[in-house]
Amino acid sequence: MRRPKIVEFELTTACNYACKHCYCNAGKKSKVELSIEQVKHVLDELKSAHVETVDLIGGEPLVRPDIYEIIEYAVGIGLDVMLNTNASLASKEVVKKIKKIYPQLKVGISFDGSLPDIHEFIRGKGTFDKTYKGFMNFVEAGFDVTILHVINKKNYLYFEDMINFAKKHRVSLYVDRFVPVGRGQLYKKILTPNKKEIEYVRHLIEKHKNSINFYVEENISGGLCSAGRTHASVLVDGTVVPCGHFRYDKEYYMGNLNEKSFEEIWKSYDPDVLLDACKVCSMFKRCFGGCRAFAKNMGLKYDPIFCEVESND
Ligand SMILES: C[S@@+](CC[C@H](N)C(=O)[O-])C[C@H]1O[C@@H](n2cnc3c(N)ncnc32)[C@H](O)[C@@H]1O
Ligand code: SF4
Ligand code: SF4
Repeated sequence: MRRPKIVEFELTTACNYACKHCYCNAGKKSKVELSIEQVKHVLDELKSAHVETVDLIGGEPLVRPDIYEIIEYAVGIGLDVMLNTNASLASKEVVKKIKKIYPQLKVGISFDGSLPDIHEFIRGKGTFDKTYKGFMNFVEAGFDVTILHVINKKNYLYFEDMINFAKKHRVSLYVDRFVPVGRGQLYKKILTPNKKEIEYVRHLIEKHKNSINFYVEENISGGLCSAGRTHASVLVDGTVVPCGHFRYDKEYYMGNLNEKSFEEIWKSYDPDVLLDACKVCSMFKRCFGGCRAFAKNMGLKYDPIFCEVESND
């Protein structure tokens, strides 16, 4: 039976950064952002549907003044909790407060490059130092830290530097691929990596895999997309989608937690709807359809990074 293992929960769309690639177009607080009571209700729903891990994301989750109460509640009901942050607001005081509540928190911190220029091309001037300070505060406080790194056409050549940076700081490295959604749509020509560029990244993962702990998203490693199979995202208004990158595609919405329980939404959903034409292709067992959100957002039926039939650049 399909089980929801990791569910992302978008606590806000407010953000103090304005990254070029941002799939949720973060900046302003949404008018429909859930109140603390509604957030607790969603967490209860996830717990009773036997979700293993909740990943608190945004926008920037640390802009919510009630973030401590949210973490405390999630931990209190027995969820395994992750926090996804740009770390710029993670002062020593903030990190200390979080540590008091839950020292086992898994912290994912986004770096789009280990060199300031590469990171700041995506995240804006002055963001490298801010993120680095917050990152070091979490590392020095002894948290389980993972660097979240999204591969794009501008940073893939610097990927080995990113690996060495993660090694130097003894943290894990999660590797994801740019999907042109939200603000990212505006930059898809300059940011979308091609097949050769992703192959280069895969080669480096293979080269370093025994000396660093990698988490590699299936849109790079290959294999069946986890959207709606072991993974889902709760958007800022309680809408459940199979992956956060489907946020603007109403036809792929699974349901809304203000109307139905998570369990009901999860059980009544068939993730095969995402496979489109790939499902009946004779090569499906070799390519598994790639990243379904990427295909959809490029206006394609297939993902050119993985497709064994269509031509690739
Ligand atoms: C939306 S952010 C929210 C958490 C926090 N503000 C941060 O930047 O880490 C979550 C993750 O999604 C990544 N992301 C944003 N836009 C993306 C896109 N178009 N394709 C792939 N990943 C993206 C970010 O780099 C970040 O690692
Ligand atoms: S990627 Fe994260 S830090 Fe950047 S604008 Fe989006 S929510 Fe903010
Ligand atoms: S749609 Fe793409 S980004 Fe989303 S879970 Fe599937 S492979 Fe990953």
